[in-house]
Amino acid sequence: MPRNAPALDPNPPNLARLRLFIEQLAHLLEQPASEAQQLHAAAPLLAQLVSHDDWLPEAFAQPDPQRYQQFLLHADSRQRFSIVSFVWGPGQRTPVHDHRVWGLIGMLRGAEYSQAFARDADGSLSAAGEPVRLAPGQVEAVSPRIGDIHQVANAYADRVSISIHVYGANIGAVERAVYSLDGSEKPFISGYSNRLLPNLWDLSLEPRP
Ligand SMILES: [Fe+2]
Repeated sequence: MPRNAPALDPNPPNLARLRLFIEQLAHLLEQPASEAQQLHAAAPLLAQLVSHDDWLPEAFAQPDPQRYQQFLLHADSRQRFSIVSFVWGPGQRTPVHDHRVWGLIGMLRGAEYSQAFARDADGSLSAAGEPVRLAPGQVEAVSPRIGDIHQVANAYADRVSISIHVYGANIGAVERAVYSLDGSEKPFISGYSNRLLPNLWDLSLEPRP
C-alpha cells in the first residue's frame, strides 16, 4: 500500500534519539552494578536525550486542561525500565507521592520544581530542603535509597512544560502511594494517559547512514 504520511510531515520527529537512549540504557542495565552506579551512568545518557528538543512526537506532548499527563514512550520487554513524557499544563502539579523504584527525571521543555519530603518523628511529612528547579537538559534522581517522596510542579503558570522520566520498572503498573502531610498514605497505580505508543522502528522513514 502506498504510504503518504512521510511526505505530509516535512519535519518528522527525530526518533533515532529516543531509540539510541533505549539501546544505551538496556546495555547499561545488563552490566552488573549497584543502583548508585547505574544511576550515575544513566543520568548523562538521559541528559543527552533531553538536551535536544526535536524528537518527541506531538501526540505525546499534549497537555490536558484537567490534569498532568503521563504518556508511555517505551517499556522494556522485561519491564526493567520504562520511559514516559510528563506533560504539565500551566500551573499543574502532582500530589505528594512516591515511586518504590529508581527514577531519573530529565527536563525537555519549560521547567519544573521538585520538592522532597521527609518523615518527622511523629510520622508526619514535611518539606526537606529547598525545591529543586530543573531547566532543559538537567536531570534529577529519586529512589527509595536516596529519597523517594516528592511533589513536582510546573514552574510556569502560563505555559506547558515537559519532562522525560525513566523508572526502574513498568511505572504505570507499580503499586505506590500518594501522601497527606499528616503522613497518611493512599494506594495509587498511575496507569498511562495513552493507549498507543510511538513507532520507533520504521527505519525506512529515516535518512540512511
Ligand atoms: Fe515523581
